[in-house]
Amino acid sequence: MLGFGRLNMAIVGTGYMAGKMAETIRYVSEVRPYAVCSRSTDRAYEFAQKYGFKKAYGSLQELLEDRKVDLVYIATPHSEHYEQVKMCIEYGRPVLCEKPFCLNAPMAEELLALAHEKHVFAAEAMWIRFLPFAGQILETLRSGIIGEPVMLTAGLGYNVGRVRRMLDPDLGGGALLDIGIYLLNFASMIFGDDISRINAHCTYTALHMDEQESITLRYSSGRIAQLSVSMVGVSDRRAVISGTKGCIVIENVNNFESLTVLDSDHNRISSYKRPGQRTGYEYEIRACAKAIKEDRLEVEQMDHDQIISILHMTDHIRGQLKVRFPQEMDEQELEAYHKFRAEHTASRKAAAAAGADGGEAASAAAAEDAAAVPDPSAETAETFLPPAGTGDGESQVPVAGDGFAAGKDLPEAQA
Ligand SMILES: NC(=O)c1ccc[n+]([C@@H]2O[C@H](COP(=O)([O-])OP(=O)(O)OC[C@H]3O[C@@H](n4cnc5c(N)ncnc54)[C@H](OP(=O)(O)O)[C@@H]3O)[C@@H](O)[C@H]2O)c1
Repeated sequence: MLGFGRLNMAIVGTGYMAGKMAETIRYVSEVRPYAVCSRSTDRAYEFAQKYGFKKAYGSLQELLEDRKVDLVYIATPHSEHYEQVKMCIEYGRPVLCEKPFCLNAPMAEELLALAHEKHVFAAEAMWIRFLPFAGQILETLRSGIIGEPVMLTAGLGYNVGRVRRMLDPDLGGGALLDIGIYLLNFASMIFGDDISRINAHCTYTALHMDEQESITLRYSSGRIAQLSVSMVGVSDRRAVISGTKGCIVIENVNNFESLTVLDSDHNRISSYKRPGQRTGYEYEIRACAKAIKEDRLEVEQMDHDQIISILHMTDHIRGQLKVRFPQEMDEQELEAYHKFRAEHTASRKAAAAAGADGGEAASAAAAEDAAAVPDPSAETAETFLPPAGTGDGESQVPVAGDGFAAGKDLPEAQA
């Protein structure tokens, strides 16, 4: 029975975050590395050897059948989260899933209702919510040193535009769910979720995933958050919270490093640096272990309503941008989508074959998934999804209250 000693932790996937977490948990006294599963038994075995896990499984089902597993951490592409979280809950295994918890709010609502029904712990690994420095930021705000906070700006951009899981609609790609979601969580931590209006604009990848976007959130209180997201451009990762008497400048909104307070004349009043940490992922693990030991189903840093609320925001933004995943399409849309992808792959292979190094380029293209190379100029991306007028990334300005305000737990929009 859970509640005493270290929890046996299991990891799903053997990629980047799985490795990061495996490194981290060696230093977290509340858990011990126990099991890993992969789509390949060999990869699971190699991972287990490398990081000192006792058990290696070739499928999630086998891992979940192991009754010694106390906490499952899911580190797979976004497309897999829904099914994998569901399986964990059905097997009664506490689960911490990487962000986004799943592709959209209805999926999260279903999963979290199931977690309550089966009395199983479930959490999203939105690590910035667990970082102790978040408390320092909130304390500084509450001190009144910058007066009344009225606006925030935050930007996050990485050149990861060739990473397959970011590009592929089948894997839940796009900049919003991968990168933008940090900024939505940051804005939510600072200004709450009482949003009356959202406006978003984006550019698209060749397969019509959002590549970079500008998002404006207007709050019922009159505050505004302006967020910039990119999966092709490197940003300064800075956030600025503006108040009536000064501002707070935060370095690295995706792993808070420091904050500096400026007065209304832009003189530096104070600054704080983040204390030492391991990888930063230790805090979410500790929070989960504590909640599980206390027989709670959620963590206080990001409760279930919060998970759903953020996904309502991403649903609303994707609605404006006309970005949809195959998992959300009806039969007719899926047919058009598959046709579009096949044409896209064929035209890429043909272009590669006609290139100067002919044979080499052709075989490279044949081996490569259609999603692996972005082509920002691909007009054909519009053939299966957005109606005319939206392909340039200009989303329709929403009527106040349209869609978003209709979401669960969200307020009536302001005019
Ligand atoms: N918190 C953070 O700072 C942070 C940073 C980066 C990413 N993330 C999140 O972590 C999750 C994983 O990202 P990652 O960068 O670790 O991805 P990754 O390096 O591509 O690894 C994903 C792993 O998932 C497994 N997998 C299962 N089904 C798959 C499928 N259909 N296609 C591809 N792989 C599949 C693979 O392991 P096997 O082949 O062994 O099955 C793969 O190695 C995502 O949700 C992402 O948003 C979080």
